[in-house]
Amino acid sequence: MLEKLKIFRRKTLRLLEMRPIHKVIRLLKQNNYLLMDSVLEVFGYTGEYHTLDYVKYVNQLDIWEIDSAHEIHLKNNLPRANVKITDAYSEIRSTDKIFDTIIIDNPRGIFADEKKCEHFEIIKDCFHKLADRSVLITHVIPDISVSKYVTPPLIISKHIEKRKLFYAHESGISISFLHFETIYRRIAYENGYITKDVFFVKRNYLFTYVILCLEKRE
Ligand SMILES: C[S@@+](CC[C@H](N)C(=O)[O-])C[C@H]1O[C@@H](n2cnc3c(N)ncnc32)[C@H](O)[C@@H]1O
Repeated sequence: MLEKLKIFRRKTLRLLEMRPIHKVIRLLKQNNYLLMDSVLEVFGYTGEYHTLDYVKYVNQLDIWEIDSAHEIHLKNNLPRANVKITDAYSEIRSTDKIFDTIIIDNPRGIFADEKKCEHFEIIKDCFHKLADRSVLITHVIPDISVSKYVTPPLIISKHIEKRKLFYAHESGISISFLHFETIYRRIAYENGYITKDVFFVKRNYLFTYVILCLEKRE
């Protein structure tokens, strides 16, 4: 019953264009950075979390997902998209496609037998598949201590250690937007891009979208 209510709420907000990703779209439009001719959604699931909210703005959508159980739902939900069941980590290196916008809606915390954490191991490769003027969207966890998920303490401490390293942050627990901005601007620069603008849009109590408007360096 609760799940049905959630789906109903999501669909209503989608129709009204009141989901968090709609705010992202509006911000990009206002800043003349809504570049959605070719979009890649790196982590697909069924498309129900947010891809269905923005797909109407996209000309050509590529969507990758590792779990073949989601393929049928992805194809039903997003009939015009190029759906590929693949490992995004190897696919991002091997694809010869270039995208205007890449969206990394990564799984929460630590995953893949503890080998991956948030978007830390994939974000750098994404820059090599972006157009000269492009957008990279992912999400951050500003404060990991507010998480309501039941996670074993050992996994939580591993997650915090990874955050300390990736964000060059002392505690890895509560990280300011200013700090996030500095780190993502630096990563973009080191991977060939100037960040023209950075926006943060709250997605829910835990996650906030980070949106990088990029231009290739000379
Ligand atoms: C947060 S969900 C994505 C939600 C989706 N963007 C949407 O709008 O519905 C993360 C997804 O990433 C997938 N995933 C995890 N590891 C992956 C990998 N190596 N390659 C591709 N997909 C992966 C998971 O199976 C899961 O479905």
